[in-house]
Amino acid sequence: MDCTHSELHSSIQKQQTNGNEKANLKSRSVSRGSHGILIILFMMVAITWGIAASAYFGLVDYKALIVHGTSVSTSDIMQYTSALYPSQYEALRHPVRSLGEALIYFDDLIFSLFVKKEKTSYIDKRRVVVFNFPLEKHVNSIKDSSQLYEKTSANAVSNDDSAKDSGFSKDHTNDKKISGEPTDHVDGEASTKEEQPQAESKMKPTQEKNKKKSSQAKTSSSSLKAKSGSSNQLSLEQNKTLLKQLQEGDELLKKKKVNEALSVFEKIISSNPSSPSAIFGKAEALNQKSLQQRSNKILIESLKFYDQVINLPNCPKKLKKKAGLIKAERHIFLGQLKEAVITLKKMAETFPRDTDILNQLGVSYLYVGNTEKAQKVYAKVLSIDPDNGFAQVHFGFILKTAGDWIKGAYYLKLGIESMAEGTQEGKFYFHLGDALHRTNRSTEADEIYKLGAKNGLFKSKYQRSLYNVNRLQSHPFWTPAEAKVNNYVKTLESKWKMIRDEALNVMDVEKGLFISEEESLKDTGDWKQLTLYARGQPQKDCKRLPKTCALVSKMPNAHGCTRGQIKFSIMMPGTHVWPHTGPTNCRLRMHLGLVIPKTGQGAWLRCADQNRTWEEGKVLIFDDSFEHEVWQNAESFRLILIVDVWHPDITEHEKKTLSPI
Ligand code: LMR
Ligand code: MN
Repeated sequence: MDCTHSELHSSIQKQQTNGNEKANLKSRSVSRGSHGILIILFMMVAITWGIAASAYFGLVDYKALIVHGTSVSTSDIMQYTSALYPSQYEALRHPVRSLGEALIYFDDLIFSLFVKKEKTSYIDKRRVVVFNFPLEKHVNSIKDSSQLYEKTSANAVSNDDSAKDSGFSKDHTNDKKISGEPTDHVDGEASTKEEQPQAESKMKPTQEKNKKKSSQAKTSSSSLKAKSGSSNQLSLEQNKTLLKQLQEGDELLKKKKVNEALSVFEKIISSNPSSPSAIFGKAEALNQKSLQQRSNKILIESLKFYDQVINLPNCPKKLKKKAGLIKAERHIFLGQLKEAVITLKKMAETFPRDTDILNQLGVSYLYVGNTEKAQKVYAKVLSIDPDNGFAQVHFGFILKTAGDWIKGAYYLKLGIESMAEGTQEGKFYFHLGDALHRTNRSTEADEIYKLGAKNGLFKSKYQRSLYNVNRLQSHPFWTPAEAKVNNYVKTLESKWKMIRDEALNVMDVEKGLFISEEESLKDTGDWKQLTLYARGQPQKDCKRLPKTCALVSKMPNAHGCTRGQIKFSIMMPGTHVWPHTGPTNCRLRMHLGLVIPKTGQGAWLRCADQNRTWEEGKVLIFDDSFEHEVWQNAESFRLILIVDVWHPDITEHEKKTLSPI
């Protein structure tokens, strides 16, 4: 924790420093704006220097200071590039090492002017080269691709929307997840997105969804941006041909003609075996093909080529970055979480201050449960870019789930308010609200929950489960008839004494079977549970309570409820359970009262805006996807049996196919 604090401290300090720097920059830019002559003079010096350097070093390596007014337009680009190169539409081959490199740097320039929408851009150490292709068209294509690109890089984390197909989902892999082991309550790993039954196919259904976000869409300009490393030996004509072929491949990819695209890229590779763009194109074609054919095998094949791109010595940085990010995202998709970490670690070695890469590295660490490393990575991102919303929400999430509610809330709030890509997720709103509530800021918590509901991240301000089937009817408390569990209730209520005695006997003989609640839901007191069934599976202690287990084993909608548990819950006087929400709306929760003390201020449960208490021998049914809170202020312990059952609207098919929680 010490280390965390000092990191945080330095990160905050850096934030302040960076903030000052920003302010200084701003004021400097204002003064530049008012000293137009100085700018022109400076540009003249820069241009002269560039030309001199070019002549002397044989390089086009301009340190170009480009200052803009309030708006940046294509004509601005034309103006500044033509200032550097009067023959704007003429190919400037010599002495740039490759066409790819030239395009990459040109792209960088445009990226910073248009995509980042910076009003003032200081382009340092950039080789600004204009090529003989229509500038307007290229500018547009770069702009589009960059926007898509950003979406993709932020989406690795949002893959968990579907709750079961991404690396973030509980059933996807045995690796630990973002907030640790699977829990009974919401750990914030999904959104309220309607869950679909899993298709029986080679690939997982979210692939269709991922497809939209995936890399293919942004292929088009990328291939334009880089070219074979042997290009410096190629003539201008050859360069042009190559560029045309790459464009052709990209066009085919855009039209989803993957096989044709593949053969175009393979043809280029046969004559230019180390062309980064062609290899990248091939990887993209295979990736797209894998989606079309729902084949993991082809997807894995595509990863080899992304890897090749990354390892090519002549690969332009931007393409390398892109290939690395896609490769990591695809690994996560496949559940190959460790491979994603390895890929991103390697990328971070090449690009140690690239916040896109670091952000994804942090996500991959969270996927494998390495919260400590993730925290360090996000601290670094925030020291580089204090306003990075993506890093803020993740940093806040880590702090909050580690129990630092105040700092957690601080960063979660900043990140959510940034509205940056990847920040508008149910889990972030969920944990921000919780952190605010736990630090006496309930009014703000309420606002966040309302906002989450308004933004479609929660079903309502009270119903904040994140693994949902949307069409299910919902209200906090249920009658046995509504829940369609009349028979179960009858059985449980008629056998309640037997159940109670069996549990009390275990309590006397083997107290250790009751385990303390482990989900940080408890504010004060002592609360223990003994689980008989979880995720539809009998637990090892079930046989210690043979009569109860035999009874519930005749209730398929209960013991077969893969999104619930059957467990005893014992709560000592002086216990308060924070308001919380179960993970899913697919179950209803029955509480059979076994030992219910009425002394002192008693024990009671609030669900949404209604309070109830238990009665010995009686079943209480509520939907625990609604916020609930418990107080045990009696003078002796309270014991209940919790039996989760499938929600009555869940279909037989869903019972079989919904991922267990
Ligand atoms: C809960 O389900 O969170 C609680 O109601 C459990 C309990 O023992 O009261
Ligand atoms: Mn609960």
